Amino acid sequence: MLPYGRQSIDQSDVEAVTAALGSDWLTTGPRVAQFEADIEAIAGAPAVTVTNGTTALHTAYAAAGVGQGDEVITTPMTFVATASSAALLGATIVFADVEDETANIDPAAVEALTTERTKAIAAVDYAGHPAEYDALRKVSEGAGAVLIGDAAHSIGTTYHGRPVGTLADLTTFSFFPTKNLTTAEGGAVASIRPDLLQRARTFRTIGLVRDKSLLRYPDEGAWHQEVHEFGNNYRLPDVLCALGSSQLKRLAAFKARRQELTARYDRLLADVPGLRLPIQRDGVDPLRHLYPVRVLGGRRREVFERMREAGIGVQVNYIPVYWHPVFEDLGYRRGMCPVAEAFYAEQLSLPLFVDLSDADQDRVVEALRTILGS
Ligand SMILES: Cc1ncc(COP(=O)(O)O)c(C=O)c1O
Repeated sequence: MLPYGRQSIDQSDVEAVTAALGSDWLTTGPRVAQFEADIEAIAGAPAVTVTNGTTALHTAYAAAGVGQGDEVITTPMTFVATASSAALLGATIVFADVEDETANIDPAAVEALTTERTKAIAAVDYAGHPAEYDALRKVSEGAGAVLIGDAAHSIGTTYHGRPVGTLADLTTFSFFPTKNLTTAEGGAVASIRPDLLQRARTFRTIGLVRDKSLLRYPDEGAWHQEVHEFGNNYRLPDVLCALGSSQLKRLAAFKARRQELTARYDRLLADVPGLRLPIQRDGVDPLRHLYPVRVLGGRRREVFERMREAGIGVQVNYIPVYWHPVFEDLGYRRGMCPVAEAFYAEQLSLPLFVDLSDADQDRVVEALRTILGS
């Protein structure tokens, strides 16, 4: 089965991991700081590495101070973790509908839902195309809320010349194998605000405080460390950070190939009937994680099944988050976000990954053409 996404690992990646395995540090060593610096160079803001994109979100919400009684406004067109990791902290999730063109959260819908309890607004750069951060920034400032960007899909993307990592107060990344770069499991939180980044770093390290000037009992002894707020062990080991740094060296080439494949899909699918292709807004330069088409005429399920039968691993990203039974059981009902639901009903992700060959991509296009009859 041709996958819809997969990692690209070359000899330089293998050598980087092997070197880490032979070093003194398997975890909490110098490769962690190196990978964090390498992420900063791409993301434009200092970063803290964590174990995956879900724990990155948990860490970001904790750093933002999200807790019981707070509301977090987010998009339903995302992986469940964007919402569930805030729910785990006791927040009430409020879903704002998306824009029809990009499937990204609609700033006007967010604005209509803000209250004095809105603690955070979390956007997702769906498929790698950035959300409308300038408009979202105005809304978050008006509401006194922390702006969070879930950039699980979009490391390497820029918005009006600014890299993701500088667009929100806190930005989260995932390095799962299907993403724009991988560390197997892995993630990061970047922040343009030193106070939020420090909170993220402490949360990621079990809440441990070691800075003597911050200790409640500074004279206890040189071994002493304290926990002032609960945290978790979300440390990403050196072995995986080594892979991350190596992958980041290849990111420009990854971007070029993903852009090439995107342009080829745009060209080859332009005359296939019954399809709506993704768009790119002016001023954005996306590193595309997904190539999401819309299958018109109520045929998405049929096309999904026939593509899978043809050995082509298409995917659907995503069911609206509040359709998950955990949200249904909390009283969320279908119909809440009609634009997102209409998008979901037609959405299909075609294979897109760095080592996808032109010939395999042609096979995807031909299979679609056969099913849709042109
Ligand atoms: C938008 C989005 N947010 C968060 C995550 C969670 O990332 P991870 O799988 O690394 O936990 C994913 C990954 O599937 C994602 O696509």
